[in-house]
Amino acid sequence: MLNGKHIILGVTGGIAAYKAAELTSLLAKERATVEVIMTAAATQFVAPLTFATLSRNDVHIDQFAPFSSSPRHISLADRADLFILAPATANTLAKLARGIADNLLTSTLLAASTPLVVAPAMNNKMWEHPATRENLATLRARGVEVIEPTVGRLACGVNAVGRMAEPADILQRLKLRVES
Ligand SMILES: Cc1cc2nc3c(=O)[nH]c(=O)nc-3n(C[C@H](O)[C@H](O)[C@H](O)COP(=O)(O)O)c2cc1C
Repeated sequence: MLNGKHIILGVTGGIAAYKAAELTSLLAKERATVEVIMTAAATQFVAPLTFATLSRNDVHIDQFAPFSSSPRHISLADRADLFILAPATANTLAKLARGIADNLLTSTLLAASTPLVVAPAMNNKMWEHPATRENLATLRARGVEVIEPTVGRLACGVNAVGRMAEPADILQRLKLRVES
């Protein structure tokens, strides 16, 4: 189903970034072409080399890196069949809801017209904050598919809602999205 699909995986700065490494591996096993875009914050959690190795592709971070044909955020957006943001931080979701394009990931998100699936992960209070609720409602109204976080032990030590969905479950949702 995902065989031959070009998938852009956006990784943002949360502890669940380690789970995005597993998702990359699962997508590669499905023979999808995976290109990873990381925010600067995401590189604090997992090394870009991990994603480059698992995806067998370059990892994109720098908006202003030299390019050969068109700017990176445009060429990445143009070649995507599907965009997945996992983990999606409260910060990047807020930027996306408002159309802010201040790094390579948010610029590419704004330039992409492909289906977008987001898998948020954050502290329960961040998840329940009215700003986050509002941002997610805005994104849903635009057709963005939100894979809800689950209840479990969070990085801050509490047992509450905010854990990113498991990579295998995200994979299933992506398959359904491609099918529909
Ligand atoms: C240890 C640690 C864990 C964090 N985990 C999360 C998280 O799970 N979700 C989240 O929204 N922000 C989290 N943050 C805060 C983000 O890293 C911060 O908002 C950052 O600006 C996000 O940038 P980005 O959206 O460009 O990746 C965490 C920060 C630290 C230091």
